Amino acid sequence: MARTVVLITGCSSGIGLHLAVRLASDPSQSFKVYATMRDLKTQGQLWEAARAQGCPQDSLEMLQLDVRDSKSVADAQACVTEGRVDILVCNAGQGLLGPLEALGEDAVGSVLDVNVAGTVRMLQAFLPEMKRRGSGRVLVTGSMGGLMGLPFNDVYCASKFALEGLCESLAVLLPPFGVHSVSLIECGPVHTPFMQKVLGGPGGMLDRTDTRTRLLFHQYLQHNKEIFREAAQRPEEVVEVFLTALRAAKPALRYFTTERFLPLQQMRLDNPSGSSYVAAMHRNVFPKEPSETEAGTGTSGVGDPELGDPLAAPQ
Ligand SMILES: NC(=O)c1ccc[n+]([C@@H]2O[C@H](COP(=O)([O-])OP(=O)(O)OC[C@H]3O[C@@H](n4cnc5c(N)ncnc54)[C@H](OP(=O)(O)O)[C@@H]3O)[C@@H](O)[C@H]2O)c1
Repeated sequence: MARTVVLITGCSSGIGLHLAVRLASDPSQSFKVYATMRDLKTQGQLWEAARAQGCPQDSLEMLQLDVRDSKSVADAQACVTEGRVDILVCNAGQGLLGPLEALGEDAVGSVLDVNVAGTVRMLQAFLPEMKRRGSGRVLVTGSMGGLMGLPFNDVYCASKFALEGLCESLAVLLPPFGVHSVSLIECGPVHTPFMQKVLGGPGGMLDRTDTRTRLLFHQYLQHNKEIFREAAQRPEEVVEVFLTALRAAKPALRYFTTERFLPLQQMRLDNPSGSSYVAAMHRNVFPKEPSETEAGTGTSGVGDPELGDPLAAPQ
């Protein structure tokens, strides 16, 4: 029986790496996985994990694919010897964290390019063939940050919100083409190197912002560290939700890897004006507003060691 051909972006580490290895080592031996990454020099960790899981040699192949570059996408597509991709997983993503005014223009452009335009490039390359064939499915790594705004994750959330609109719009169109679905796998915090790779480091150029904002950023990092400690999932756990989606006879648009953030999501739906969510999230993250004296004025106080804490990951 022909194997199911899967192509995944962003497999050098984290969720992409775990998903690639999980599928390539599946006891059914029914998957052929093309694990792609933008720089093949970073493939060592994936090979190591594949060896440790006993992946059969021909179940896993690595390809260079940078989602910012259409030629790189086309070159990778041409290397798929089966001539088709049954399951496309758009997983590559970049984080950006800090006060809006402290974010560099290049970093903002890069996150939007990778997270939004990169996903569009992948879909433009692979969807037409699925539509022609009348079969295929697409999974996109979504985020709770695509369903609710999170302070200091403004641009990251904007990029993940964009994916919601992109996928929901396609999901409405695709049923008559036999393409089963576009499904978003909505992740909360996950233990991966995501934060270590945040562009420009957590915070950006903090000397560009005022003292009150820096104090609030500090509070946010503390809050997020706690959320991460309490709620972050292992990538192995998250990957099982991808498997549920890709095995579903009638896949849904959204799968949630955790139920923890659903009450907040429900609050957004129950009060579409946004007032309840904004007030609740503000209370949650900033239970104690910095006093006038603490906040002061000007831009002094840069360089708090807490601002570099890698555990304070966005969701
Ligand atoms: N970890 C979390 O808490 C969390 C929560 C919600 C959603 N997510 C989402 O999960 C997805 C995977 O992230 P992760 O947590 O597994 O972190 P990760 O380990 O940093 O994985 C991100 C992957 O994307 C790749 N990537 C970045 N720019 C790329 C480009 N231009 N072309 C191709 N690949 C590129 C990275 O490659 P390099 O190694 O070359 O940078 C890396 O392989 C992302 O979409 C992220 O937004 C993560």
